[in-house]
Amino acid sequence: MAEPANSPADTVELANSGPDGATEGKKKLFVKTYGCQMNVYDSERMVAALGANGYEPTEVAEEADLILLNTCHIREKAAEKVYSDLGRLRPLKAAKPELRVGVTGCVAQAEGAEILRRAPMVDLVVGPQAYHRLPAMLERGARAIDTDFPPEDKFDHLPEGSRARRAPAAFLTAQEGCDKFCAFCVVPYTRGAEVSRPAARLLAEARDLVARGVVELTLLGQNVNAYRDAEGATLAGLVREIAGIEGLERIRYTTSHPNDMGDDLIAAHAEEPKLMPFLHLPVQSGSDRILKAMNRRHTAADYLALIDRIRAARPDMALSGDFIVGFPGETEADFQATLDLIEAVGYAQAFSFAYSPRPGTPAAGRDDLPAEVKSERLLRLQALLTRQQAAYQAAMVGRTLPVLLEKAGRDPGQLVGKSPYLHAVHLKADPTLVGRVVAARVTAAGTNSLSGELAS
Ligand code: SAH
Ligand code: SF4
Ligand code: F3S
Repeated sequence: MAEPANSPADTVELANSGPDGATEGKKKLFVKTYGCQMNVYDSERMVAALGANGYEPTEVAEEADLILLNTCHIREKAAEKVYSDLGRLRPLKAAKPELRVGVTGCVAQAEGAEILRRAPMVDLVVGPQAYHRLPAMLERGARAIDTDFPPEDKFDHLPEGSRARRAPAAFLTAQEGCDKFCAFCVVPYTRGAEVSRPAARLLAEARDLVARGVVELTLLGQNVNAYRDAEGATLAGLVREIAGIEGLERIRYTTSHPNDMGDDLIAAHAEEPKLMPFLHLPVQSGSDRILKAMNRRHTAADYLALIDRIRAARPDMALSGDFIVGFPGETEADFQATLDLIEAVGYAQAFSFAYSPRPGTPAAGRDDLPAEVKSERLLRLQALLTRQQAAYQAAMVGRTLPVLLEKAGRDPGQLVGKSPYLHAVHLKADPTLVGRVVAARVTAAGTNSLSGELAS
């Protein structure tokens, strides 16, 4: 099934904490990250935790002593990719028997011992809430599995990232887990119940990141706008506190649920200039019948009314969404309602997926639509979303936008940065400007990015 190349849950990245004071004789750790940004953040923290145990990161799997696959279970394709990657690693293990291979993340949580059975080369299976136990498991040496949801907070035990200077934009996990139980989704089972980290801890971590060069923070959570710590702090309160950190220029958060979009958060978008005008607010479907079958607990009209309130507070808000097509029982009329909703909202960008039945979820037992119906609808939906995205990008041409320069671009002499609306912007600029917000005039719009020049 064709899925968009930019699907957040099917991307693969290396943990980006670079070697930090590398020394000879250290063991080498290779981490491959699948899935969402929460996994990217977790991978960084695992790299840091294992760094304290004598492992230094490598980007070359062949030279690793320990390989961790930090996995995603959201759709069948994402989960099966892990097994094909494990197959590809088999020759490495055969050539180097002391190599240890671990599966972490949501496939580890969902499949547990099944992984050890299906892939005998795997030594360790560790679920997302048990990462702080990884160093001890490695020390014990034997094949092992830990998919507990321990009462302690893993982040209290995982050291923060290296003390080295950081890239200008960083993630910070504020909330984990989900209590929503959408009928299609594995996350409540793989990540457990909604838990919010204390605001004071997050503030301290944010200060530390800013001290190391971070100028843009993205607060993460499966339902980050459901954030509420034991002291009663909400996401809006957390954003306002973090906005007080000198040197921090931009704040984002993702992913949000429509039912948790509080008035105080909407107001923060009107009042807090550091809070960027971009909101990923998945709706999944525009049909009330399907929304009900999905257990989304809101209607299409509720969502549209919410969008109106958000746009009243912040008229230039760029909206992003997730859509599932071909959910069991979806008729052509239901699908048309989704297209209508998309037309009504006008998305700056969006992710869309063909429904994939997931073991253990309520919808798994329902009649699955034929694959051709799903792929045909997905193509039509993506054509509309691509048109909207292209129109949105084209409308930026000629405008001057503040762009946070993040890293070297694809061509020599080029840097790439982000607009407030999360467009990638490529422009010629001196590399010493990385980490600075500059004014850039947009000169051209491509499919996924903008080109620009420094505005004098
Ligand atoms: N917490 C976020 C999304 C988590 S998963 C939220 O509630 O919006 C990211 C996206 O994957 C979902 O928004 C949904 O569009 C998609 N997804 C989840 N389960 C799926 C499934 N079984 N089949 C197809 N897409 C799915
Ligand atoms: Fe999954 Fe729904 Fe929870 Fe999002 S809100 S993580 S889609 S169960
Ligand atoms: Fe995937 Fe788990 Fe994230 S299933 S999308 S890695 S929460």
